[in-house]
Amino acid sequence: MKRTAIYPGSFDPVTNGHLDILERGLILFDKVIIAILVNPEKKALFSIEEREEMLKTSTKDLGNIEIGTFGGLLVDYAAQKKAYAVLRGMRAVSDFEYEFQMALMNRKLNREVQTVFLMTGLRWIFTSSSIIKEAAQFGGRIDEMVPPCVNKKLSEKFAHNL
Ligand code: PNS
Repeated sequence: MKRTAIYPGSFDPVTNGHLDILERGLILFDKVIIAILVNPEKKALFSIEEREEMLKTSTKDLGNIEIGTFGGLLVDYAAQKKAYAVLRGMRAVSDFEYEFQMALMNRKLNREVQTVFLMTGLRWIFTSSSIIKEAAQFGGRIDEMVPPCVNKKLSEKFAHNL
C-alpha cells in the first residue's frame, strides 16, 4: 500500500520552513499531497493560483508531490485522496495548542486519519508566512527565508510601498 500524507495549509506564501517539513515528510511517506485551503473569508495576500504557482516552482526538484486545493473539511479531502495521515510542522511551544486542538478535532471527525507532527529545522523556528509578509512589506530582507520565486513575488507585491 502506498503511504500518502496530506500537507495542508494556507501557504500565503510558501516559505523555506514549509519546504523543510515537506522534505522531512517525503522521508516518511511515499507521496505528499500539498493541500491549499480555499477560504474566501480569510484575507490572503496571494490568490490561490499565485500560491499554487509558487508551490509548483519551489517543489519541482522534490520527490513525489501533488499540489491540490480544498474547501470544507480537511479529513474529507484526505479520505477522497486516500491519504491516511495529515502532516503538520511544529515550531515552538506556541504552535502546540492550536495544532493539538486541530489534530483532536480531525480525529473526532475521522478516526482513520492520523496527524503526524514534524519538528521544523532550527533555522526556520522563528519564521512564518505572516511574519515574512510583514517584514517584506516594509522592505526587510527575507531572501534567506523563502524560495527565490517567492522573494521575487513579494518584492513585486510591495514595490509600491518602497
Ligand atoms: O497554515 P494554516 O493556515 O495554519 O492551515 C490551517 C489549516 C488549513 C490546516 C486548517 O485551517 C484546516 O484544516 N482547515 C480546513 C477546515 C477543517 O477541516 N476544520 C476542522 C479541523 S480544525
